[in-house]
Order: sequence, then C-alpha cells, then structure tokens
Amino acid sequence: MALERTLSMIKPDAVGKNVIGAIYNRFETSGLRIVAAKMMHLSKEQAEGFYAEHSERPFFGALVDFMTSGPIMVSVLEGENAVLRHREIMGATNPAEALAGTLRADYAETIDENAVHGSDAVESAAREIAYFFSDEEICARTR
Ligand code: TYD
Ligand code: MG
Repeated sequence: MALERTLSMIKPDAVGKNVIGAIYNRFETSGLRIVAAKMMHLSKEQAEGFYAEHSERPFFGALVDFMTSGPIMVSVLEGENAVLRHREIMGATNPAEALAGTLRADYAETIDENAVHGSDAVESAAREIAYFFSDEEICARTR
C-alpha cells in the first residue's frame, strides 16, 4: 500500500446544493485525510488551464462555463491508495452509471454537472495539486 495524495474538487453544482460538509464527511469516514483546502471562484483562464487535456473535446466550452459558474472547494486528500479510493468514492463520470452510495449517484444530476472532480492517476494528481497549492499550503499531520 502506498500513501498517496490526490486533488479533489467540489464543483459549483454541489457547492450550490450546500453539501460541502456532507462530501467531506464521506472522505473522512473513508479514511482519507484533508491536508489542504480552499474555496475559489475559478477564472476562465484557470478553468481552461486545469482542463487543458480536454480542450479539443466538444464539451470543453460548456465545461469551462460550468466550472466558472460559482465557487468550488479545492482540496488535497491524503491516504493509502488515495487516488483510486477517491475515484471509487466519487463514482462514474456519468451519474446515471455511478454505483449507489457514491458521491455522483447522490449529488450529481448529469454527466456535465457531476458534483466532484478527482485526479485519475498519481502523476496527474501531482500536476493538479501543484496547479492549486504551493508546498507550504499542504499541511502534514502532526497529531
Ligand atoms: P473526464 O476526465 O472524462 O471525467 P472525470 O471527471 O470522471 O475524470 O471528464 C472531465 C469532465 O468533463 C467531467 O467530469 C465532466 C465533463 N464531461 C462532459 O461534460 N461530458 C462528457 O461527455 C465527458 C466525458 C466529460
Ligand atoms: Mg478526468
């Protein structure tokens, strides 16, 4: 087992539903630890940069509009196999395909407004964490 970090985002739809605490509770009860967090309202440039890998996809413009439509919570989660475990807690990209009890099954309405983001690999997690947080903003466990 590997101690990993992953980037988590609570997207504007879920922040609007007032379920930040409910989502953080899922992470904590699953054994993931929040080691950094902040609320942000992304600019168009920040959203485009974050999702640059999707810039040629037909949904890119709508995705950027959605991600800039309201505030988000950006967090770094730490734990054993955190990247894959966080993806499991989130559920499938399309909430219609997400397993019962996952965040997207419970809080997402559609594939394009799907409540949460999570890094998909250790490498992308490192890049996405560095996109939003400096090393000083990530707090190691002390007790
Ligand atoms: P993707 O990286 O495939 O999914 P995930 O968030 O599970 O890693 O896509 C990134 C986001 O793009 C996705 O969360 C929502 C949006 N999206 C759409 O709006 N329509 C689509 O058909 C897909 C595949 C993604
Ligand atoms: Mg993805």
